[in-house]
Amino acid sequence: MFEDMTEQQARDQILQQVAAYCDTFHNQKPPFEPGQRIPYAARVYDREEMTTLVDSALEFWLTAGRYTDEFEQALSKFLSVAHCSLVNSGSSANLLAFMALTSPLLGERAVLRGDEVITIACGFPTTVAPIVQFGAVPVFVDVTIPQYNIDVAMLEEAVSPRTKAVMIAHTLGNPFDLDAVKAFCTRHKLWLIEDNCDALGSKYRGTYTGTIGDIGTSSFYPPHHMTMGEGGAVYTNDALLHKIVRSMRDWGRDCVCPSGMDNLCQHRFDRQYGELPKGYDHKYVYSHFGYNLKATDLQAAVGCAQLKKLPQFIERRKSNFTRLKEALSDLQEKLILPEACEGADPSWFGFLITCRAGISRDAVVQYLEGKGIQTRMLFAGNLLRHPCFTDMRESGEGYRVVGSLTVTDQIMRDAFWVGVYPGMTDAVIDFIAKSIHESVNR
Ligand SMILES: Cc1ncc(COP(=O)(O)O)c(C=O)c1O
Repeated sequence: MFEDMTEQQARDQILQQVAAYCDTFHNQKPPFEPGQRIPYAARVYDREEMTTLVDSALEFWLTAGRYTDEFEQALSKFLSVAHCSLVNSGSSANLLAFMALTSPLLGERAVLRGDEVITIACGFPTTVAPIVQFGAVPVFVDVTIPQYNIDVAMLEEAVSPRTKAVMIAHTLGNPFDLDAVKAFCTRHKLWLIEDNCDALGSKYRGTYTGTIGDIGTSSFYPPHHMTMGEGGAVYTNDALLHKIVRSMRDWGRDCVCPSGMDNLCQHRFDRQYGELPKGYDHKYVYSHFGYNLKATDLQAAVGCAQLKKLPQFIERRKSNFTRLKEALSDLQEKLILPEACEGADPSWFGFLITCRAGISRDAVVQYLEGKGIQTRMLFAGNLLRHPCFTDMRESGEGYRVVGSLTVTDQIMRDAFWVGVYPGMTDAVIDFIAKSIHESVNR
């Protein structure tokens, strides 16, 4: 079939066919009709993602390679951040971000077992999991409605001599009060990890969230602002933190040669490390107990194509949010609508609603789901009430709660969200608004 062609010609022919396949068999959606299933989020892609993916498949490099480099550089450029590492999920990104803080290379600022990390309970579990898994102590404070972010008035009360870090997410794309949290961290010499998994493209006073604290993380799981199937990223402006993240991502090794390359530093066999024999192969010298959390080049290839669409995705998320909020503005006596904090320009992940007294969240959710509109809770609601927390709750050990988590419990009981993802048309948003009106006016 390809005998008379060069490899490039063969590849071009395959990619043309893949593009035509994508145009013909994907993305041929009929116009929206009420009753159609409305997912809260989904992949938005075209022939570019599919051809780039197949291009990478034909190369068959498989592990991190040229698409990974391209993606890391492009995401750094987009965010105006110095360093970026592609990883295989947002949860892995959070794990690395936290574990980086435990590196002995950080000296007295390293997080040790038993040290405390301030966080919240009404978010995604893998923002908190690395803290618990390592044996540090999560310190939970309440949040505020309608921002759904940390109540910064509680920060000073939460701090103790063992506090080393704050690790929190920008809830559903809504930036937390970075002025207050950053000032608090500076005052007490604490690390700040921004879980930016639901907030790619959000800005705070003109700067992208995820780049204001010490480390930021992203998720590229399909519902997120952009996708590569599974994937995530860790970014930082701090060269030492970046070095630690890379080491821990790549088995804990000391060497920085990319996959498939040797001896870039020209010192592979002539240095002294620890108590190893002098000249021991640097490729197998370990400065950390690490993981392998790399993504494949196939994932990165899809990410490269998605990243080009990110600015338009962000704009569409914002305009869908605005349209929905306007359409629901007459329901403020029954529903609390979401609001950004001062200085924030959110790239919304979803539209979060809390039902006021007299309106049953469960009844509203059942009604909307019956109309085909997919709904979501604010993830864990209150993480402390989950089975994974039973042992800690019963023993009362391994965590602290500062004040009460009354608002967190309110969110667990009365809040839900619907999507605003870029695949939603005005007709879809209008149908969601109409259905929400019906659900509360029955
Ligand atoms: C705030 C937050 N952090 C972390 C994650 C984990 O990302 P992943 O699913 O890619 O592991 C999610 C997942 O949606 C999330 O919402």
